[in-house]
Amino acid sequence: MAEPLPICYLNGAYLPLREARISPLDRGFLFADGVYEVLPVHAGHMFRFREHFDRLARNLAAIRLAAPHTHGQWLTILDELVRRNRDRAIGHHSDVEDMYLYVQVTRGAEYSRNHSFPAHATPSVFAMAAPLPTLSEEERLRGCAAITIEDFRWGRCDIKSTALLANVLMKQQAVDAGAQEAIIVREGEVLEGASSNVFVVSGGCISTPPDSPHILPGVTRDTARLLTRQSLPVQARRIGVAELRSADEVWISASTRDVLAVTMIDGQPVGSGVPGPLWKRMYEAFRDARSNPLFDTGSPPDTRHV
Ligand code: PDD
Repeated sequence: MAEPLPICYLNGAYLPLREARISPLDRGFLFADGVYEVLPVHAGHMFRFREHFDRLARNLAAIRLAAPHTHGQWLTILDELVRRNRDRAIGHHSDVEDMYLYVQVTRGAEYSRNHSFPAHATPSVFAMAAPLPTLSEEERLRGCAAITIEDFRWGRCDIKSTALLANVLMKQQAVDAGAQEAIIVREGEVLEGASSNVFVVSGGCISTPPDSPHILPGVTRDTARLLTRQSLPVQARRIGVAELRSADEVWISASTRDVLAVTMIDGQPVGSGVPGPLWKRMYEAFRDARSNPLFDTGSPPDTRHV
């Protein structure tokens, strides 16, 4: 992953990321008491902004933390963060056309350590930008390798919480095995990746596991469903691990990766061992949607002022 861009946003101020500081008493640090978002920015445009911030609003409500900003305020804060980092990059003659934003809100700090909510804490709000990891055409056409792993996360993985220790350990196990992703399985059922959602193609049908407390409802996954609504319907249904292993194609999706083919699982090739034709169609649909400035106008035009 490339280094983050130099300017971040922290509690109302724009400052160099290297100088940003929070208290060790912040509940994000002590308890992972916070939620986050990651969203891609293409040529200065935040892709699926509304969907990401609707999810953030749902997640804040789920952890009983009052939303620090409206969608409109988030948009203003993040547009400015993108602008400052782009201006800096232009000044340094580098190119940050495509970036992603990381946004985190925690329950803040009190001068104490209590598990229960503090009476008067102000949420901590942090955002930074980083270049979007770019895969070469050759890398995309090679796909990636994954391992399967039994789920040992908590029971509310539908909340995009910063409590990611299990995901960190799973991802490292994948990396140690020479793979790029861990596909999480619970009692024989495929759930999602350590940092992605999963799609399986069998007999021309595309399927993805249904929403549940064990799965993060991915914005990229839902965009894929939208893109394929007419021509390639995606079914949400339970998928057994045997079906994963015998699938014609397997893909993973995430905001930093679009849709990437998984060509090897636990050392065995998926289908013919190369990204399949439906993945290619999906990937091209994403590329078109990203470069189409009208794609996101499916969101109400007044999103900016919600
Ligand atoms: N992760 N499931 C998990 C556990 C994830 O962490 C992610 C994304 C996804 C895909 O969600 P989306 O399409 O909305 O990005 C599914 C982000 C990219 C991360 O933690 O960096």
